[in-house]
Amino acid sequence: MALRRCLPWLMMSLLAQALVVVHRRGGGVVVAAAGKVPAVIVFGDSSVDTGNNNFIPTIARSNFWPYGRDYADGLPTGRFSNGRLSTDFISEAFGLPPCIPAYLDTNLTIDQLATGVSFASAATGLDNATAGVLSVITIGEQLQYFREYKERLRIAKGEAKAGEIIGEALYIWSIGTNDFIEKYYNLPERRLQYTVAEYSAYLLGLAESAIRDVHSLGGRKMDFTGLTPMGCLPAERIGNRNDPGECNEDYNAVARSFNSKLLDLAAKLNKELPGLQLVYADTYKLLASVVDKPADYGFENAVQGCCGTGLFEAGYFCGLSTSLLCENASDYVFFDAIHPTEKMYKLIADAVINTTLHVFL
Ligand SMILES: *[C@@H]1O[C@H](CO)[C@@H](O)[C@H](O)[C@H]1NC(C)=O
Ligand SMILES: *[C@@H]1O[C@H](CO)[C@@H](O)[C@H](O)[C@H]1NC(C)=O
Ligand SMILES: *[C@@H]1O[C@H](CO)[C@@H](O)[C@H](O)[C@H]1NC(C)=O
Ligand SMILES: *[C@@H]1O[C@H](CO)[C@@H](O)[C@H](O)[C@H]1NC(C)=O
Repeated sequence: MALRRCLPWLMMSLLAQALVVVHRRGGGVVVAAAGKVPAVIVFGDSSVDTGNNNFIPTIARSNFWPYGRDYADGLPTGRFSNGRLSTDFISEAFGLPPCIPAYLDTNLTIDQLATGVSFASAATGLDNATAGVLSVITIGEQLQYFREYKERLRIAKGEAKAGEIIGEALYIWSIGTNDFIEKYYNLPERRLQYTVAEYSAYLLGLAESAIRDVHSLGGRKMDFTGLTPMGCLPAERIGNRNDPGECNEDYNAVARSFNSKLLDLAAKLNKELPGLQLVYADTYKLLASVVDKPADYGFENAVQGCCGTGLFEAGYFCGLSTSLLCENASDYVFFDAIHPTEKMYKLIADAVINTTLHVFL
């Protein structure tokens, strides 16, 4: 299913790459030589999973209506949104397909994956124990799939071409929120072992080792997206015991502190690892600003998701309560109680593109 909807885009973009790529940005037009970033390769969680969880036994799925309601032909893909994700828009901005395929879709050939691929898995985290909660793909398994992908590219394209794709690709990381909201704060195990500062440090160590792994496999251009104000997700507002309905400011403070350490980590690794260009993309400020003044960005509602009551539904429950679905997801910041709408993902993509395009093109 996902194949059929991705294919026209993948084919068109293969043609486009033969030419000089022209893309629009904030009204202006950027002209770039084709092939500077030949692929976008993605690791992470539901914010960037384009359908991998459809192919593993887990309840952390979104391959049913109303997910995908505003996607190409209105059918679900496994993206946790009404339409495309930030990484789809980012790929498009780099002159690549406007739709990043999921690695586990075995109908896709290596040629179709050569311009971009997502290894991401909804409900996962940097911590293995987070992936364990809903039996999804760990970060170590995502890296293992990446090694397999690299080998498939080598066989299909030859050593030199595969090396060029791996070396010039943009690697995007979007992960970490679930470690806090799904694991640390939701279940006792990690809280009994670590203070939140210790847990953040543990996660940053895991992020560092994943970045080092990709670098040792040939990756150079990377974007690690920071945490958003996760205390303002609709599900966290309702779960806020001290101040029900309001943002959980403790969670937001944890996100800010994690982000500042991520920035330090990027600086450290950029000094240490030869050729590495690791960019930290801040999405915290943007989301905080949207939640604070939704009307400034064309939104009517920033406190409830579009699906169901908008207060707690995500995944399976979103599929159950479709009678309460909002009319137009573009009026909403969130599509379910955790995940942004396509319109919000587009704004997030613009922020990431603004910090990465000039570095990598
Ligand atoms: C793969 O292709 C086959 C044959 O076209 C189709 O029946 C099947 O649904 C496809 N699988 C996925 C996951 O798209
Ligand atoms: C996570 O799990 C993998 C596979 O079981 C293991 O190799 C790895 O060491 C684990 N990582 C940590 C930090 O425990
Ligand atoms: C939803 O609203 C946007 C503007 O906010 C508008 O462009 C779009 O056409 C609307 N979609 C539907 C289905 O009404
Ligand atoms: C990205 O840059 C464009 C052009 O400079 C600007 O108009 C836009 O507001 C920026 N978007 C974000 C989300 O930072």
